[in-house]
Amino acid sequence: MKRRRVVAGNWKMNLNSLEANDLVQDLLSLKHESARIILGVPFVYIASLARLTNGSNIEIAAQNCHHEQKGAYTGEISVEMLKSIGTDYVILGHSERREYFNEDDTLILQKMQLAHEAGLKVIYCCGEPLSVREAGSQNEFVQNQLAQSLLKLSAEEMKNTIVAYEPIWAIGTGKTATADQAQSMHQHIRQLISAQFGQEIADQSSILYGGSVKPANAEELFSKDDVDGGLVGGASLKAELFGPIIEANL
Ligand code: PGA
Repeated sequence: MKRRRVVAGNWKMNLNSLEANDLVQDLLSLKHESARIILGVPFVYIASLARLTNGSNIEIAAQNCHHEQKGAYTGEISVEMLKSIGTDYVILGHSERREYFNEDDTLILQKMQLAHEAGLKVIYCCGEPLSVREAGSQNEFVQNQLAQSLLKLSAEEMKNTIVAYEPIWAIGTGKTATADQAQSMHQHIRQLISAQFGQEIADQSSILYGGSVKPANAEELFSKDDVDGGLVGGASLKAELFGPIIEANL
C-alpha cells in the first residue's frame, strides 16, 4: 500500500464564521478530488463545516481536546463530543499548546490515547526550538519527544496517526527549514517508527512538514521522499495560497 499524501491546514484562532464558510466553499470549488485535505478548525465551526464538507475530500480536525473523558471541567471539550459532531481528526502536541498551555509529552500521550479510543484519528506534532537546532541536537530532541508519546501508542493507534514535523523556529516566522533539513528529520522519524512498529507501518505513515509552508516553497519540500505533505498555518487561511499548496502535493 502506498502511503497517503496529505495537506492539512491549521487555522489556529482565526476567521469568523462567515469567513470560515467562504474559505471552505472556495476550497470545495477547487475540485482537487484526488487530494486529501484536512482542516484544523476552531471547535465552534466543526459541526457546520463537517456537514458542508460531507462526502468531499476535505476532512475536519479539532485543534485540541481535553485529556479526561468527561466530568466537571468547565469550558472544556471532550473527545466524545468531537466524535459525535463529525470530527475526523484532532491535532495534538502542537508547539503552541506545549508552550502556552504547558502541555508535556505525558499529557499529549494521554490525549492521543483517549482520542483513538473515541475513534478519532490524530495529527501528532513534534519539533525542536531554535537553540536545539543551533546546537545540532535536533535528532535527539525529537527522538526524546517521540519516545515519550508517539512511540508508546499501539500499532493500531499508530496506523491512525499522522505525524507533523514542525521545527518551532519555522512556525509563523517566515523561516522555513530547507527541503534537505526536512527530509533528513522525516527520515529519522520514519526510522524511529520502523524500529518500534515495523517497516510496513513506518512505510505507510504519513509524515508532514510544518513551518512557514507557502506556495513558493511547497513543491520543493513535498518533492522529498519522506515528506508526504504539509501542515500549514498562515497560508491555509486564504484559498489563493492554500490552493497552490494543495496542487504542489498532487
Ligand atoms: P505556519 O504555522 O504555517 O503559519 O508557520 C504552521 C503550524 O503552526 O502548524
